[in-house]
Amino acid sequence: MASFFGSHFVFVCLAAIAIAATAPLQPYYIITNAETPSLNRAGLTPVGQARAESCIPPIFSQLNIGFILSCSANSLGCAAANETAMPLAQALGLNITLSTTGSVKSKVNAFLKASATNQSALVVWNASEMEDLFDDADVNDDGIDDDSLAIHPDVILTVVNGKRTGQTSMNCTGVDGEA
Ligand SMILES: *[C@@H]1O[C@H](CO)[C@@H](O)[C@H](O)[C@H]1NC(C)=O
Ligand SMILES: *[C@@H]1O[C@H](CO)[C@@H](O)[C@H](O)[C@H]1NC(C)=O
Ligand SMILES: *[C@@H]1O[C@H](CO)[C@@H](O)[C@H](O)[C@H]1NC(C)=O
Ligand SMILES: *[C@@H]1O[C@H](CO)[C@@H](O)[C@H](O)[C@H]1NC(C)=O
Ligand SMILES: *[C@@H]1O[C@H](CO)[C@@H](O)[C@H](O)[C@H]1NC(C)=O
Repeated sequence: MASFFGSHFVFVCLAAIAIAATAPLQPYYIITNAETPSLNRAGLTPVGQARAESCIPPIFSQLNIGFILSCSANSLGCAAANETAMPLAQALGLNITLSTTGSVKSKVNAFLKASATNQSALVVWNASEMEDLFDDADVNDDGIDDDSLAIHPDVILTVVNGKRTGQTSMNCTGVDGEA
């Protein structure tokens, strides 16, 4: 009898550990920098500024974001991505964490795993470097048109456990252009 309960207890513990280990991580989201001027001129266009200031903050304020990751200017041109993320960061009272390609996945997953309140994360990346981002973040990019992402900054990708589970528009009337 004692050994029956003993082994049963061990089984329950192992099952609990297995469930904890495989509990899905919260989703995180990927967007690109907002609209920029031609020929690498600095800053965002007026439409890009409107996206950063009035389109992105209300959307992501609803999504329980606790961590914002952007690319590090040391490895890429990232001023536009930073500018895109800044109004949201200010609205949420978050700092923007910078990452070179190489540690996106580990930084995002470390945040998601550590979040006691199941918060999500947002990655804001240089639109010309999305392919590298997907490689680095180990995100399946089947069906994603990288060139289309580079010209449609309204697209939000959702990633769960390394799998891209969704793709939607920010739906910001007057910013995304006419549907
Ligand atoms: C993206 O990075 C490239 C370098 O890979 C840089 O030339 C370009 O200006 C950057 N784009 C933006 C919008 O920052
Ligand atoms: C991001 O933008 C803010 C505000 O424009 C600026 O103060 C900050 O230095 C920028 N950070 C980077 C890494 O470019
Ligand atoms: C943001 O960074 C500043 C300066 O390092 C720090 O004082 C502040 O606590 C940080 N805020 C958050 C929310 O982490
Ligand atoms: C976080 O998610 C886990 C697993 O989905 C759940 O058991 C837990 O209750 C959630 N915690 C909060 C604070 O929502
Ligand atoms: C944008 O609109 C589509 C179609 O109505 C909807 O499925 C999607 O959730 C919306 N996106 C956001 C960020 O609300």
